[in-house]
Amino acid sequence: MVHDRNPLYHPRYRRSNAYDPQWVFENLMGPHPLWLVEALVECLPIEPGMRVLDLGCGTALTSIFLAKEFGARVWATDLWVESSANEQRIAAAGVEDLVVPVHAEAHALPFESDFFDAVVSVDAYHYFGTADLYVGYLVDFLRPSGRVGIVVPGLTHEIGDRVPDELTPHWEWDFCSFHTPAWWAFHWEKTGKVRVDVADGIEDGWRDWLQFDEATASHTQGWRREGAVKSAAMLRADQGKNLCFSRVVATKN
Ligand SMILES: C[S@@+](CC[C@H](N)C(=O)[O-])C[C@H]1O[C@@H](n2cnc3c(N)ncnc32)[C@H](O)[C@@H]1O
Repeated sequence: MVHDRNPLYHPRYRRSNAYDPQWVFENLMGPHPLWLVEALVECLPIEPGMRVLDLGCGTALTSIFLAKEFGARVWATDLWVESSANEQRIAAAGVEDLVVPVHAEAHALPFESDFFDAVVSVDAYHYFGTADLYVGYLVDFLRPSGRVGIVVPGLTHEIGDRVPDELTPHWEWDFCSFHTPAWWAFHWEKTGKVRVDVADGIEDGWRDWLQFDEATASHTQGWRREGAVKSAAMLRADQGKNLCFSRVVATKN
């Protein structure tokens, strides 16, 4: 879609620019999933035919993106969204031969060991992956030297039990699962199950997050608009001092 008619145009996310912004607004569950997965594949390249587990895929936009853009075979796996709803979205996008919707809890995954070439997870891993033992469980589903990559809301520095003053009016208790890229790298590497290849903050990630919230606030109504207005206020107050997107990619040992 051309620049001046696309409220979600972003010069960095050239593949995402081709997707209908209305489709993104209607199916959003958090910050722009296509931007986040496009940032992830910069460090975790996806090739045609790769078997990819998209864990916590929500409405499966990222799974559809990986199938359309790279020809990956994707298992679109989520807990809160029923697989029947994702099945319809996947078929409407014309990628039903590549994307399989799966309804599963992240600790009880219905897959064989060594099955996947890659696991990706966008704005979801912090809900289920902060236990020390989780990554070890998860990488059992990867083939040897398979890769796991996540993008999650994160912190520029660990804050311990003290919420920064500028964030206090906006803080929700479950933000305690936000962590720095270095925290995630240590959290994973100490298991000995993976070698971390990349652990960084997406450059200007908080600005992208704010841009998406502002566009969402202008183009949606109801709970989507309310959520975006609230989140935008927090990001404006923070100005990138504390909040970021942590991006972590590792290879199975
Ligand atoms: C904020 S939404 C993000 C969805 C999608 N990845 C996106 O970016 O639009 C978080 C997702 O994590 C999934 N999730 C949370 N806890 C989970 C669990 N224990 N097992 C599987 N999925 C889980 C939810 O079902 C939800 O769809």
